[in-house]
Amino acid sequence: MKVTLSVIKADIGGWVGHSAIHPALEESARQSLAAAKAGGLILDYFVTSCGDDLQLIMTHTKGVDSEPIHHLAWDTFMTGTGVAKKLKLYGAGQDMLADAFSGNVKGQGPGVAEMEIEERTSEPVLIFMADKTSAGSWNLPLYKMFVDPFNTAGLVIAPQLHAGFRFEIHDIREHRKIFFDTPEEIYDLLMFIGTPSRFTIKHVFSRHDGTIAAASSTERLSLIAGKYVGKDDPVMIVRSQHQFPAVGEVLEPFRYPWIIEGWMRGSHYGPLMAVAQKQATPARFDGPPRVICLGFQVSDARLIGPRDMFDDPSWDEARREANLLADHLRRHGPFEPHRLPLEEMEYTTLPQTMDKLKGRWKPL
Ligand code: F6R
Ligand code: MG
Ligand code: MG
Repeated sequence: MKVTLSVIKADIGGWVGHSAIHPALEESARQSLAAAKAGGLILDYFVTSCGDDLQLIMTHTKGVDSEPIHHLAWDTFMTGTGVAKKLKLYGAGQDMLADAFSGNVKGQGPGVAEMEIEERTSEPVLIFMADKTSAGSWNLPLYKMFVDPFNTAGLVIAPQLHAGFRFEIHDIREHRKIFFDTPEEIYDLLMFIGTPSRFTIKHVFSRHDGTIAAASSTERLSLIAGKYVGKDDPVMIVRSQHQFPAVGEVLEPFRYPWIIEGWMRGSHYGPLMAVAQKQATPARFDGPPRVICLGFQVSDARLIGPRDMFDDPSWDEARREANLLADHLRRHGPFEPHRLPLEEMEYTTLPQTMDKLKGRWKPL
């Protein structure tokens, strides 16, 4: 059976400030998706949140980029925005950048990760969701999962992983894509994905049998809106076991709090902290950035789960290190490398300041 997994997310209002989602928004989304399931449009769903972002995890048979599915997500977020406005939640409707739905939520504000799969005999799937960070933050963990044998023992030991993986990279400034095969082309691959603000890993495929292994959201809000309107807070779907990395190999990259862009005002580098869903409530300096992971067994399109994968003491040290790194970076205040470099700020908050001062610069 071919099943499509769609994870569509948006920030439609925070409670309190940008720190979390009010239960009424989740409830509103659940009602909307329950009606869609009863009507047969989707086969199953799970609604959750990471920080101030609301995620709709859905299964259906309509394929990726399906208009009715995207329309459902759009309407769900619009209804939620209405609830957020009534409660005067913070930044109600923030990510709904377009006035009306135009066939696909891509480019309209919400983030999307989707894949169509032939369900295996057993189908373990991990859904990653982040807050206070940007598209591209999955580059390093995806590289570790699918390329680094020091992370993924299966690349060496398991025959199905030994053939390596194929990466689809998107250049989000120039709107073009390129494929790289690993392990042969890792140096070429790293040249690009080492700049996650521009080059993002959109999909990963198994070279053993060509099947899709991972899909991530790569929408860049600031590029869509032409100014800073909040962070992308991306999502990602990763299939696991057998011809893919084991669950523990998929999770292992998050042992280290990688430094990513986001955090306060989307303008700072900070550590990505792996937390349980109930701890995904950025508080300190609006952060530090969070990642959660919910695991499901997909069974005839039913989402059997979730299991909250970072709700486990084995991640305590990762969190402790994240807090130590956060302390160190915070001491830099408005200085790089805590604050983003000017080229990055150019796409967010720098233009207004430059504009204000433009008449005061004199030639040297
Ligand atoms: C980061 C984020 C927050 C806000 C900050 C200021 O992604 O959402 O750090 O940027 O709280 O928010 P405003 O400008 O809405 O007061
Ligand atoms: Mg927000
Ligand atoms: Mg957010």
